[in-house]
Amino acid sequence: MSTALVTGASSGIGRAFAERLAADGHDLIVVGRRKDRLEELASTLTTVRVEVVVADLASDEGIGAVAALAADRPLSLLVNNAGVSHYGPMAELPVAHARELVGVKVVAPTMLTRAALPGMLARGAGTIITVAGMLAFGGPAPSGQLARAIYTGTLAHLVAWTQTLHGELAGTGVGAHVVCPGIVATEFHSVQGMDLSAVPRMSAEDVVTAALAGVALGEVVTAPGLEDPSLLDAVFQADLAAFGAQTPRLASRYRS
Ligand SMILES: NC(=O)c1ccc[n+]([C@@H]2O[C@H](COP(=O)([O-])OP(=O)(O)OC[C@H]3O[C@@H](n4cnc5c(N)ncnc54)[C@H](OP(=O)(O)O)[C@@H]3O)[C@@H](O)[C@H]2O)c1
Repeated sequence: MSTALVTGASSGIGRAFAERLAADGHDLIVVGRRKDRLEELASTLTTVRVEVVVADLASDEGIGAVAALAADRPLSLLVNNAGVSHYGPMAELPVAHARELVGVKVVAPTMLTRAALPGMLARGAGTIITVAGMLAFGGPAPSGQLARAIYTGTLAHLVAWTQTLHGELAGTGVGAHVVCPGIVATEFHSVQGMDLSAVPRMSAEDVVTAALAGVALGEVVTAPGLEDPSLLDAVFQADLAAFGAQTPRLASRYRS
């Protein structure tokens, strides 16, 4: 029986991952801070073994405890899904929120993946799915957009990190994948007091369907709401063109 570890399984996309993976026969380790939610989820998933782990993935202690599990258990799948939005102007964002955001969206996926990989590589099999978002490509969006520089930056990090890691893992039987939803109907915005109920939103279940289908299709970056995947290919080709065209010579426009 394979085991999947899902972070942020107490609501939204993480809960939908847990439900889908249980239906597919995976034993589960479900992680989050809200024990009551995780236990209620576990009580509904009666066909597989479900282990509830209460941990704060913004803290070193919480990350360390879950990383120890990821290293010890023979995980076939790690889903780095937990996240918070903490939108707001950079200079005004409470320092604790800035730290929490980077902890949950960057430090936790890094350390859990670092912990899970040696076992996956030794077994020659494993999948890492990380939940980023289409805002990863929103950096150049015009000013006047909602202030969310740190959040956007964490998503861009997750995309570049996954692409690089996937290349590094080629031929090992282990794959790294990242899914980039647009706006999804979960608690993500409402916990921050934002009401997006009037905005068309994808379901968490559709995000999970796309993520798992994307892995099966061999996609490294999956965009559930993007009909034309050549748009993403164009982004990555442009990335490579700029990366490959730079030289050690100072570009002429910077010379006086
Ligand atoms: N909803 C969207 O529009 C959207 C769009 C693009 C990407 N995403 C990404 O999707 C992922 C899932 O979000 P969602 O939409 O499903 O929102 P959600 O319903 O608010 O779920 C967020 C999950 O993350 C967990 N979490 C948050 N902080 C945590 C912490 N410090 N330690 C452990 N767990 C923590 C929460 O559990 P506890 O509160 O129980 O800890 C919850 O289970 C996020 O990473 C987000 O960046 C969402």
